[in-house]
Amino acid sequence: MNNIPQSINLNSIKMLLKQHNQEHLLKYADELSYEELLALTKQINQIDWSIFTENVKPEVAGSFIEPIHVLSDINENEELYRTTGLNAIREGKLCLLLLAGGQGTRLGFDKPKGTFNMGITKDLFIFQLLMEHTMDIVKLAGTFIHMYIMTSDINYRDTLIFFKEHNFFGYDPEYIHFFVQELNPATDFSGKILMNSKSSLALSPNGNGGWFSSMHKAGLLDKIFDSSLEWINVFSVDNVLQRIADPVFLGATIESGKMCGAKVVKKAAPDEKVGAICLQDGKPHIIEYYELSDDMMYKKNASGDLAYGFGVILNYLFPISRLKETLDTKMPNHIIKKAVPYIDKTGTLIEPAEPNGLKYETLALDLIHEMDDCLVFPVEREREFAPVKNSSGVDSVDTARELLVKNGYEL
Ligand code: UTP
Repeated sequence: MNNIPQSINLNSIKMLLKQHNQEHLLKYADELSYEELLALTKQINQIDWSIFTENVKPEVAGSFIEPIHVLSDINENEELYRTTGLNAIREGKLCLLLLAGGQGTRLGFDKPKGTFNMGITKDLFIFQLLMEHTMDIVKLAGTFIHMYIMTSDINYRDTLIFFKEHNFFGYDPEYIHFFVQELNPATDFSGKILMNSKSSLALSPNGNGGWFSSMHKAGLLDKIFDSSLEWINVFSVDNVLQRIADPVFLGATIESGKMCGAKVVKKAAPDEKVGAICLQDGKPHIIEYYELSDDMMYKKNASGDLAYGFGVILNYLFPISRLKETLDTKMPNHIIKKAVPYIDKTGTLIEPAEPNGLKYETLALDLIHEMDDCLVFPVEREREFAPVKNSSGVDSVDTARELLVKNGYEL
């Protein structure tokens, strides 16, 4: 690190790190080339320090939590809802957002999760399944629907190349728009930022909650605000039975007059790892499974069912006009235990199998709390919920494959 050019102001970086108690980040500075040091200091300068101190998710204690009404007339009104939804799609009121910026650490697959092959005797990639589900609606409505795809710096290139290699799975590429979300550093349990090499912080995507502001930063919103679009259907990459642009869901949300919609499933067990939907001080609210108290988890209602027995499946409908108003709202910060590759004291890279660190993320579910009310739309889990989270066991490739077969897919 001799002869450091002026462009790296190491003293100010040192002061910054001292102020935040993170001086260890320059531990290997003497061993780095100029380029490596430049890259490291750039990462340090980009840290949003507020994630460690401000706006940590508030406790639910002290607020009034109660069960939320779940829609019960879907069968009776299905045709009405479908017609309303399809008309809205034909009038260009709906666009789609695929959240594909996650790292999928639990799956242990080092490529974008959407490129995972669910097929056994033939190719059946997750992205392919999602695009095919969307194409079903495109055919029904007779129009393509704009789809935004959130990636991160870590998986953007691979995702784009994959889509191109597969000819966008028959979707019109003019209707597909990729953008990139921001990264945050991960820390150990004591709050020290982890490094994944001597010249690089352990960075990971900043959660799935920042998509609207990331779209804003990517310059995508002006066009949306100037268009006929009214609704955005936000969904995760990892549910291979995800119904996208579901006209019945859209129509029911429109007909209900509620501000937004959330698809839910009846929980398989009180401790199932899904966010529980409820009302907090009269507003729709979702409590993540790792933030749910035992009391709420097991609470029963008068009929003997779980009082908070419906979990979200990361498939929401948001009104664009309301989202516009939330652009300046600082989203709550969730601190999540995850396995984070890091270099130990000897500089050796360790790839832990178990959680060893903390990630700082905003979550899409918190946007629900910014809405005045929400249509809670229950779906049959066997037909619409096959999450691919883990490599084996619950919510894994195996369980999702079983559900695909049950739904008539040949693998
Ligand atoms: P998960 O919460 O399951 O996170 O994402 P993950 O990073 O994909 O997986 P693990 O926890 O490391 O195993 C739910 C959805 O949100 C997206 C994911 O791609 C998935 O569709 N997501 C998650 C983002 O788009 N960005 C993020 O920063 C995090």
